[in-house]
Amino acid sequence: MKTLILGAGDQAEVAYHILKNKFEISGFIDIFNNPEFNNKVYQDIKVIGNLNDINQLLKIEQIQVHIAFGDNHYRKKIFLQYKNKVKFINVLHSTSFLHEQLTLGENVFVGPKTIINNDVLIGDNTIINSGAIIEHGCIIGAHTSIGPGVNIAGNVTIDESVTIGIGATVIDDIKIGKGSIIGAGSTVINDIPDNVLAVGSPAKVKKTLK
Ligand SMILES: CC(C)(COP(=O)(O)OP(=O)(O)OC[C@H]1O[C@@H](n2cnc3c(N)ncnc32)[C@H](O)[C@@H]1OP(=O)(O)O)[C@@H](O)C(=O)NCCC(=O)NCCS
Repeated sequence: MKTLILGAGDQAEVAYHILKNKFEISGFIDIFNNPEFNNKVYQDIKVIGNLNDINQLLKIEQIQVHIAFGDNHYRKKIFLQYKNKVKFINVLHSTSFLHEQLTLGENVFVGPKTIINNDVLIGDNTIINSGAIIEHGCIIGAHTSIGPGVNIAGNVTIDESVTIGIGATVIDDIKIGKGSIIGAGSTVINDIPDNVLAVGSPAKVKKTLK
């Protein structure tokens, strides 16, 4: 079975470094058709094509993939497009602490030195970046990005397609609605509705997102 990384930018490179210890990687796939990635070679691994090439490949062999780029909405689209057609791989850095009572979806990324405590559920296709702490009883929705160094206290519920910016803090029992963005360094002490940008300490809704 071929192993491919869907993405060819920074997140793809980070995923490659973790995955290369476990699998032989056949190449990166440029899902954005970005001319910048034409002929890109990263540590001997090439960008070998785009999504059309995957579709061709799927006709002749089974493949396993990790989708590796930051845009939640496009990552969701690609995940749903290939669900049940490919095998998704989770990328879990060896220096992270993952409690044994953890439920992980598919295509989850967990970066170095993260701590994920007991009774946490991480949905499909979610990115937990370096050094984030997720305490007991949290639910982190699908297609979400938790930034580097984010601290999430116990029993927080984060809906799908949420972005929590680098270094933000979320106190206990908070709910953050679908599609919302929390600015870098913010402190969330009240529930946040769906589809808003909330920033500051304490975090306040700055605008509604379309
Ligand atoms: C929130 C963010 C996404 C910007 O969103 P945006 O829609 O482009 O918003 P703007 O830059 O237009 O800012 C809107 C307002 O929010 C304020 N704001 C933006 N980010 C803020 C933050 N982190 N803290 C406090 N205020 C912030 C701006 O000053 C602006 O205020 P104003 O309207 O009074 O001038 C960005 O500032 C941010 O925090 N990104 C996170 C980056 C990150 O985590 N990177 C790591 C990825 S691995």
